[in-house]
Amino acid sequence: MAKFDFSKRDRFGSKIGIIAAAAGSAIGLGNIWRFPYVAGENGGGAFLLIYVGFIILIGVPVMLSEFTIGRRAQRNAYGAFKLLKPKQHWYLVGFMGIVAAFTILAFYSTVAGWTLEYLINSITNAYEGKTSAELSSMFDKFIGGGVRPVIFQLIFMFLTASIVFAGVKHGIEKYAKILMPILLLIIIVLCVRSISLPGAGDGLNFLFNPDFSKIKASTVLEALGQAFFSLSIGMGTLITYGSYISKKENLPITTVQVSAADTFIAILAGIAIFPAMFAFNIPTHESGEGLVFKVLPLLFNEMPGGFYFQLLFCLLLIVAALTSTISVLEVVVAYFTEQLNISRKKATVIAASSIAVLGIFCTLSFGQVYLEIFNPYPGSFRLGLFNILEYLSANILLPLGGFFIVIFVGWYLGRKNVNDEITNSGMLRVRLFSIFLFIVKFLAPLAIALVFLHGMGLIAF
Ligand code: PHE
Repeated sequence: MAKFDFSKRDRFGSKIGIIAAAAGSAIGLGNIWRFPYVAGENGGGAFLLIYVGFIILIGVPVMLSEFTIGRRAQRNAYGAFKLLKPKQHWYLVGFMGIVAAFTILAFYSTVAGWTLEYLINSITNAYEGKTSAELSSMFDKFIGGGVRPVIFQLIFMFLTASIVFAGVKHGIEKYAKILMPILLLIIIVLCVRSISLPGAGDGLNFLFNPDFSKIKASTVLEALGQAFFSLSIGMGTLITYGSYISKKENLPITTVQVSAADTFIAILAGIAIFPAMFAFNIPTHESGEGLVFKVLPLLFNEMPGGFYFQLLFCLLLIVAALTSTISVLEVVVAYFTEQLNISRKKATVIAASSIAVLGIFCTLSFGQVYLEIFNPYPGSFRLGLFNILEYLSANILLPLGGFFIVIFVGWYLGRKNVNDEITNSGMLRVRLFSIFLFIVKFLAPLAIALVFLHGMGLIAF
């Protein structure tokens, strides 16, 4: 079989482009859709505290490790491990990332499809004057409605594939650069409106005042899973992106900037959602996956110019989701093109269509027929394919991937190689290098293992 010509690899064109692309991957539905609902279900403030702790202690080191592996090897996630440790089975970690890309994109594209419905409803002003109960039933009816959410999901997959088709510099980088800052602005506007509603204080209290009695073993694992999911780490997305970063870039600084931006946006999403929930008397733990779609229209309804803000917000949410989905698809496409030597275009079509098939089942798992068969006790626990893949990806595959990634960098890549890559061959002074090494060798693997085993109920303290 002919081999891929590695001198033809694409690269990010500029410094700001790298940050925009990596931040674009990190910032997405994970921050705006997933963070508020998972935080709500897990008690708010205490969850936030643990989540932020995990970002700093585990997320940042894992992200830097991924960039290091990717840039060192200049390969896709699978090929990187294969190249750096040819005689060992580390490529399996890369392979696990490719599996995770399938499971994540399958359920993520379901939610991304929902954002298209949100856009259409905003354009037609369908939310105007609706009460919270009406919005809620509108949403539930839509996701249980069969064909429509599937069509939107497929449209979204098509959009994702067309950008990945175009390649790294012209596709991925170009869009991320302009649109991310505008998204930030609108979220800030939303926050201001939300905290000025009567009764908003309780929402802020819920989000920022930790109540440790609400913490269970599962809460801690959920916080870890959310940290991994939101930062796009643990599956090789940032190994892949790292492989497109030029040797001159400062990896530690990029890591800190991307993680900080991602965390900031998640917290802002919380500030936008929770005060509004308290103001409108929506219980914090019951809304599930539909939370933001049920609450945000209420907020926009309360705002002068709300129609326009909502429209802009939907568009940007779609863009934020797109810059994340392309980064997931890119993991698979880079693997197909470089390891199997398939053309980029063919690889994109094969990957996107096979993921779409799995995705359709996720979307349909909210349908009435499916729910009656597989989920006879709605509310007590959720057992649709969507929920299974969501749980599997965030709470199992990503932490497991992250565990092996830090072990690899800490114990197998070699101190000199790691130092070389992180300091750009000694050109940069990285003061915290030994702390980083200590964390990836000992602290992060131990913490991930404990949280994981405890959260799964395999050990108790
Ligand atoms: N971090 C993305 C988000 O928050 C989702 C994602 C997960 C992207 C894993 C890539 C890899 O929406």
